[in-house]
Amino acid sequence: VLGLNELAHAAGKNYFGSAVDNTLPEFTDPTYMSIYLNWDQFGQITPANAMKWMYIEPEPGVFNFTLGNQIADLASDYDYVLRGHNGVWYSELPSWVTSTDWNATGLAYAVQRHVNGIVSQYAGRVYAWDVVNEPLNDNGTYREDVFYDTLGASYISLALETARAADPNAKLYINDYNIEYVGTKSTAMQDLITQLQADDVPIDGVGMESHFIVGEVPTTLVENFQAYEALGLEFAITELDIRMELPATEESYEQQKQDYYTVVNACMQVSACVGVTVWDWTDKYSWIPSSFPGYGDACPWDADYQRKPAYDGIAIAF
Ligand code: XIL
Repeated sequence: VLGLNELAHAAGKNYFGSAVDNTLPEFTDPTYMSIYLNWDQFGQITPANAMKWMYIEPEPGVFNFTLGNQIADLASDYDYVLRGHNGVWYSELPSWVTSTDWNATGLAYAVQRHVNGIVSQYAGRVYAWDVVNEPLNDNGTYREDVFYDTLGASYISLALETARAADPNAKLYINDYNIEYVGTKSTAMQDLITQLQADDVPIDGVGMESHFIVGEVPTTLVENFQAYEALGLEFAITELDIRMELPATEESYEQQKQDYYTVVNACMQVSACVGVTVWDWTDKYSWIPSSFPGYGDACPWDADYQRKPAYDGIAIAF
């Protein structure tokens, strides 16, 4: 029997992979590593936290690549596709970014130094970078974070241009949630992409996070994905998990299997979809219970490392 990454490859996709969080004790958990380090199951890695600003540039201009290098070295050693995550995001910022009273020149310099620092560190090793993460509100307007408030939307092109110069071979992505389906936010993202293209700003892909709820997976994934393909971009499912209200039931596990099938099948139906990444593969380390109280069991493997019906949903879809 083929594993999920082998199935993805057989289906013409570039990878099936997972986020891993080495700020948690995953890498020292032998069961976690023995399952994760099988190329037949996983062919791609995204750091869930290690390359975020607060970890990788904790002081102005002072980079700490310890955790990021652990991820990048694993990718090299095991021949896993590496997705860099992320460049510029409103969250998990060090306090020197959020508490400085910036002027535009100062913050533009800090953004360039940051993006150049991380992208050049891993140049040649990263398949794709989420250069800009979650720039939009659900109503389609720009998120009013320190970057937008100080620089307007120009921080987006600045980050993308800086990333291109630092690693000309990395695919440059914008990554967001609630853009997976037809709606206001997805339309706004397509408008943003169209504007960047018109301005000759480098943009190669869009990340569809895909943090869904069991029984509530959107019905317009394929139609929406086709609209991105029509823009001439690739895209990826970058952070898939499908949470349920606890306690789980046999019915909710079956629905979750169907829901995983629906998402992976939507990727299968659109050739511009290059791969699928789950936002960790075992419930043992999932971010869901702490971020969405009352919800959990969002991953294809349970907290005891047993495969759930969701696993079969993915396997059947590829
Ligand atoms: C999450 C991590 O998994 C958590 O450990 C952290 O506390 C918060 O961030 N969208 C993203 C990811 O782009 O970076 C987020 O990851 C989940 C939502």
